[in-house]
Amino acid sequence: MLEQVDEHGRCLRTDATDDCLIHVDCASHRYPDGTMGIHDLSFSVYRREIVALCGANGSGKSTLLEHLNGLLLPSSGDVYVLGKPCREIRKNVWRYVGLVFQRPEDQLFAPTVLDDVMFGPVNLGMSRSEARAAALDALEQVGVAQLADRMPDYLSGGEKRLVAIAGVLAMKPAVICMDEPTSDLDDFHRRRIEALILRLRDVRGISIVIATHDIDMASRIADRVSIVKEGGIIASGSPQGIFYDRRAMADAGLMPPKVVEIYLDYCDRTGKVPEKRPLNTAELLDAILR
Ligand SMILES: Nc1ncnc2c1ncn2[C@@H]1O[C@H](COP(=O)(O)OP(=O)(O)OP(=O)(O)O)[C@@H](O)[C@H]1O
Ligand SMILES: [Mg+2]
Repeated sequence: MLEQVDEHGRCLRTDATDDCLIHVDCASHRYPDGTMGIHDLSFSVYRREIVALCGANGSGKSTLLEHLNGLLLPSSGDVYVLGKPCREIRKNVWRYVGLVFQRPEDQLFAPTVLDDVMFGPVNLGMSRSEARAAALDALEQVGVAQLADRMPDYLSGGEKRLVAIAGVLAMKPAVICMDEPTSDLDDFHRRRIEALILRLRDVRGISIVIATHDIDMASRIADRVSIVKEGGIIASGSPQGIFYDRRAMADAGLMPPKVVEIYLDYCDRTGKVPEKRPLNTAELLDAILR
């Protein structure tokens, strides 16, 4: 997909029907204590795609995500959402770009789970009955409808994460950013969130940006992967291109997905040239058994 940019590298597209939904233009963010969260970073999110941000602890993934919905503004550079500078539309960016926080405790505050998930839809202007229906549907989709009347404070870590995802889902934004969506989740709920992310792209046509240490999940579902290191993006491309780039992965301090590791070990041991690039178990078996 080609990005249309002007001579300053800025996205020229200005309406919601275009492919470039978010463009981060050479943005840096300095926190009040002087720490650089991101540095001269450029990044785009296109329509109907799943982008995975992978990188070591402290590399800048969360800082970048928090710029995508206007929670943080860059100290220099710009962020454009639907072609408009985030600085100008900051108060409304949350309507288009939802963010599921890395720590769900930062997101949940209402007395009950249902109130919490209804909060966004009510603020969008839905009636209480519409908001209730949207909230119940979102809770159902992440598999925790039974928690609707519970107090968020007393939920387990994984339950809080699922409720936080439901809270953003209920607002039906054009882009959902999820910060470590699968940490604390059991296998069943992790798979459920993976399936949900794929469904959001395929059925609703929305874009999802995930910051994650779950490289195996990223290899299964991402359309595009960006590797973040020391506040910048050092490599970006297809999962095959990135996860089979041993040098870029090692440079970022990342281990390749298990499937990639097994396939490359298999090729090393058997002296075969790794001409395929399997990313899931079906592709791996296919590549080995042929
Ligand atoms: N509020 C803050 N004040 C000062 N420095 C911060 C703040 N938040 C983050 N940082 C710093 O900014 C850099 C990037 O942090 P960030 O949280 O974006 O990394 P991350 O890639 O999300 O890490 P992790 O994988 O551990 O979640 C780190 O050096 C971090 O210490
Ligand atoms: Mg983080």
